[in-house]
Order: sequence, then C-alpha cells, then structure tokens
Amino acid sequence: MTITKEQVLQALGNVEEPDLKKDLVTLNMIQDIHIDGNNVSFSVILTTPACPLKAMIENACRNAILHFVSKEAVININMTSRVTTQKNTGVPGVKNIIAVASGKGGVGKSTVAANLALGLAKSGAKVGMIDADIYGPSVPIMFGLEGARPMASQVDGKTRIEPIEKYGIKLLSIGFFTDPNQPVPWRGPMVSTAVKQLFNDADWGELDYLVIDLPPGTGDIHITVTQSFPVTGAVIVTTPQNVALADAKKGIGMFMMPAINVPILGVVENMSYFTPAELPENKYYIFGKGGGQKLAAQLDVPFLGEIPLIKGISDSGDAGKPTVLEEDGPMTAAFVKMAERVAQQVAISNAKALSAENIVNN
Ligand SMILES: Nc1ncnc2c1ncn2[C@@H]1O[C@H](COP(=O)(O)OP(=O)(O)OP(=O)(O)O)[C@@H](O)[C@H]1O
Ligand SMILES: [Mg+2]
Repeated sequence: MTITKEQVLQALGNVEEPDLKKDLVTLNMIQDIHIDGNNVSFSVILTTPACPLKAMIENACRNAILHFVSKEAVININMTSRVTTQKNTGVPGVKNIIAVASGKGGVGKSTVAANLALGLAKSGAKVGMIDADIYGPSVPIMFGLEGARPMASQVDGKTRIEPIEKYGIKLLSIGFFTDPNQPVPWRGPMVSTAVKQLFNDADWGELDYLVIDLPPGTGDIHITVTQSFPVTGAVIVTTPQNVALADAKKGIGMFMMPAINVPILGVVENMSYFTPAELPENKYYIFGKGGGQKLAAQLDVPFLGEIPLIKGISDSGDAGKPTVLEEDGPMTAAFVKMAERVAQQVAISNAKALSAENIVNN
C-alpha cells in the first residue's frame, strides 16, 4: 500500500497544539510533505523557536503517522518556526514588543530583561533590546558596553541610529547617549521624546522580539511606551517578599488599566531561593516560598518561573556577560525556561488577538 499526502494530513489533523487548542493542520503548521515509499518527511512550523513544547509536538506527530498511516513509515520531521505577530507594532519590521517591568526597584528587571533577550536569541529568534531606564540605565554595564556610542546618520533629513550588536542581539540604551559622570536632569517631555527616538529613529531591521527594560514603578516612561507603541505584553518581575509583591500588584494593575490595556504575559519571581555553589541541590527559600506563584494565581495571570539567588548571576551582570550565555548549569536553565514560557505566552496572546479579530471581521 502506498502512503499518500492525504493520509499524512489526516493523521496530523489528530495532533493538537496544546496551547492553541486546535490541530496542526487547521493551524496551517504542517508544510512541505514529501513521500517516497515508506519515507515520510514534512515540516512543522512552530509559533516560536523557543517553543517549550517542541519535543512533545514532534513526538505526537511521529506517533500519529505510525498509528494512523503505517507502522512501517520512516519519518523525518523538520521542526522549524515562524514567529507570530498580531498587529503593526509601530516599529517597522518588529513583530513583538515585550515590556519588562516591576513595581519595586532593584528586584532584577534589568537582569531578567537581558537574560530574556539573550535566551530568546539562543533559541534562534531575532532579538533586540531597549534599555529605557533614563534614571539608571543598566545595558552599558551588563553588556560590557560602557562608553559605546551608536553610529547615527542622516537619511532623507531624518536621523537613523544603528543599534549596537553584542552577543547576537541589537541593543540601544539611553545610557549610550549620556555621560554617566554628568547626570542630566530629565524633564517630562524630554523623557518622552528621548524614549520614542530609541524606537522610531533606530534601524532595528527585522526582529521577532524587542525587549524593553523599563524603570521601576509606574511613571512617564511607562505611559509613553505603552501609549506610543502597541506593546504585545508585559513581564512583571518580583521578589518573594511581601513589599515587592504588593508593588508588583500595583504594576500589574497599571498595565490592566483601560487607558493602557497591555496584556500581562506573566510574573517572574526573582531571587526565589538561595543555592550555594558547593551544594547545588540545596534550595533555601530565605525570603519565603511561593509568593510570586500565589500573586499570579490571585490575579489570574501566568507564572513564568523562579530564578534562584546566585552570586554568579550578579557577577556575570557586573562582568558584562549575562548568565544565560554560559553553556549550562542551573542558572542558565532557569533563564532559558523562563524565556520559553514568555515566548509561549506571546504566541498564545497573538493567537487570541487574531481569532478575536477574525470574529470581528466575519
Ligand atoms: N537572581 C539573582 N541572583 C543574584 N543577584 C541578582 C539576581 N537578580 C539580580 N541580581 C543583582 O541585583 C542587583 C539589582 O538587579 P537589577 O539591576 O537587575 O534590578 P532592577 O530591578 O533592574 O533595578 P532598578 O529598579 O534599579 O532598575 C544587580 O546587582 C543584579 O546583578
Ligand atoms: Mg534596572
């Protein structure tokens, strides 16, 4: 009996994308089917290269072919991806804007933002990052770029800024344009103009994800960014202590306000537990356990993971080479997992927005 394309499609029509709750064929995720005797090959187009369900989906496809088509099939699956988007982000070529915020300062937003951006890039995505913290920019130190000055040119009477590339991602920081030894007093309108320029006047090219490191709290910069650009979603960083959780709740509340209306991709709990280098299996929940998870449940938003308190995370930030760039180890694993969960929530949010749009269009 010869295997046909129709049989393959019918079989894969039984495989559900667990997040999007539809089968892979309906979602148009199956392409390039080739059959040669018992050899069956096809591509699965995932919604992000950082898909945490990649292995599971691949397995389910393999099983579906063996079960519904032929036990003898020799299957070759090419797992690939095309990052989804929902609407014009206001920055040409940029598919998704992810804002990293917190209520309280010093909880690890910049650390999470840098490792999120690099974690997404590690999976193969095209990534950029904007450090929009006018009052305390972190990118120059965290990426070893102190004193760096991006190239700017005039094209048709407009300024074009070239983001700086480091570790495979494109970067702009308000810190590249100021002198760290001469703090500038920023006035409201200046802040707004400067931040918008980082988006509008830069040559970002094609990006799957543009990660924004916001200052702490809920101020001018948050309002400028969320009102000027359709932010795909916000990642809220907190530490386990009650004071941080209370402020995180306020931060989430701001994004949910009707005038701002930015979807919450989820909560990351940073400094969740301490792990000594010599006892990597031991976890000490020195600031209390499960606070971030409880907050996420209470507000009905996803929980994106626990990041341990490890001296290496702080050291690598100071040394200009964020942790996730290290090959392996518990710190890298925690950040990679978090990046995958963020990418997953972006894909879910995009799918929801698109189906809502379809309903409106029909
Ligand atoms: N999980 C961690 N383990 C150890 N040190 C950490 C961890 N997360 C952050 N740090 C350190 O804590 C300090 C504050 O982190 P970071 O600058 O990322 O916070 P922030 O929320 O961006 O601060 P700000 O509100 O000032 O912008 C830094 O020195 C950083 O290296
Ligand atoms: Mg910061």
